[in-house]
Amino acid sequence: MVKIKIDGKSVQAKEGSTILQNIRDLRIDMPTLCYHEELIPFGACRLCTVEVKTNGKGQLTTACDCQVAAGMDITTASDKAVESRKLAAELLYYKYPTTRVVREIVQKLGVAVTPTAVEGHDCILCGLCTRTCKDIVGVCALKFQDRGLDRNVEEPKIEFISANCIGCGSCAYVCPTGFVQMEATDDKRIIWNKVFKMAACDTCGRYFAPVEQLEYISRTAEVPLSKLSTCVSCR
Ligand code: SF4
Ligand code: FES
Repeated sequence: MVKIKIDGKSVQAKEGSTILQNIRDLRIDMPTLCYHEELIPFGACRLCTVEVKTNGKGQLTTACDCQVAAGMDITTASDKAVESRKLAAELLYYKYPTTRVVREIVQKLGVAVTPTAVEGHDCILCGLCTRTCKDIVGVCALKFQDRGLDRNVEEPKIEFISANCIGCGSCAYVCPTGFVQMEATDDKRIIWNKVFKMAACDTCGRYFAPVEQLEYISRTAEVPLSKLSTCVSCR
């Protein structure tokens, strides 16, 4: 355990825990957009910025990807921290003014939002889909196009690697803006414009998972495909 302070309160924090985890343990409200507790933090949106003093020296840092260290004196609502979060929110709103999740979160941070007749579904580059695909599903079908040696695009965007996608739909589930759309008809699922054939449950006949996803589970978990022929409800 390490001893830290949050908003003047002494806290025994777990070694390796993040500032955000400890803030949340104290039930202090802190906005987050690119954070998910199951994923490695990314520090993209900067909406969780706090002020931290260590050995008397203060600096701003994002709470979601910063691990605690002994003696940290963390302030969540200092003028500097509040101003920095508001600035991050203004930038987000400037770029994605019609996206609902952005509008909701920036309003909470004091940014004036004008009414809009349309609802956008922009990709806000939060990276939740890429991290879910790589770290949870383990297939790496999504990546940032501007990262790495081959970066040559003006605006970063998500690249879909069709050959790796198994159609599980996790990216659509986790995407906070609705940018990732998944369509379903009886025996087909379409995601990122790739069409997947769905498998029907041997017992109830309901289409329940893409064949490619079942083949992937069979391969990686070394379970015969025949054992994956029923839906969750019929198992
Ligand atoms: S597609 Fe959705 S989840 Fe992926 S980076 Fe864009 S907004 Fe985030
Ligand atoms: S939630 Fe911490 S930077 Fe986005």
